[in-house]
Amino acid sequence: MKKIITLGGSTSKNSINKQLADYTGTLMDNVELIKIDLNDFGMPMYSIDLENENGFSDATKKLNAVFKTADGFVVSLAEHNGAYASAFKNVYDWLSRMEAKVWRDKPMLLLSSSPGGRGGQTVLEIALEKFPRMGANIIGSMSLASFYDNFKEGELVNEDLKVALEEKVKLFEKEI
Ligand SMILES: Cc1cc2nc3c(=O)[nH]c(=O)nc-3n(C[C@H](O)[C@H](O)[C@H](O)COP(=O)(O)O)c2cc1C
Repeated sequence: MKKIITLGGSTSKNSINKQLADYTGTLMDNVELIKIDLNDFGMPMYSIDLENENGFSDATKKLNAVFKTADGFVVSLAEHNGAYASAFKNVYDWLSRMEAKVWRDKPMLLLSSSPGGRGGQTVLEIALEKFPRMGANIIGSMSLASFYDNFKEGELVNEDLKVALEEKVKLFEKEI
């Protein structure tokens, strides 16, 4: 069975992006979902000095090993001040030092969400441009605006958006 990592680019306890990534994973058939919570992989703020002094932390090695086993990724990014949330960027920086192709040329569904009207579109655009340089094979992307209006009790309640996401999931399933 194919292994799919679902990941919210945030360490918020009730991260809407983690909710969206995990939910998107449940729309897939016959896959094993590996739901990553970044809180389980605490890492110090990246610096070359720390890397030189101590090498990679157990958390970095553990997460890198999990990434290595994945057949695909569903990533939903939180937007902080028009960019990646620092917690995500920190983990990403550490991982990129272990393996530059963080995403291992695997298929990816790339999402973002925010409570506001743009749905994290700015960070999504950044990642759409940058992630392929780090080995992401982006099959589809979507930003979900007004999260709390459109996502209730663990699922997308806006039918049009649900259909749009399901179409992207189908394309993704063909690629994994
Ligand atoms: C420091 C900070 C900066 C933020 N900046 C933005 C922003 O630039 N654009 C945006 O749409 N939302 C912004 N927000 C609101 C986030 O979209 C909102 O907190 C969202 O829930 C973050 O996703 P998460 O729940 O997955 O952590 C910001 C929130 C914080 C705490």
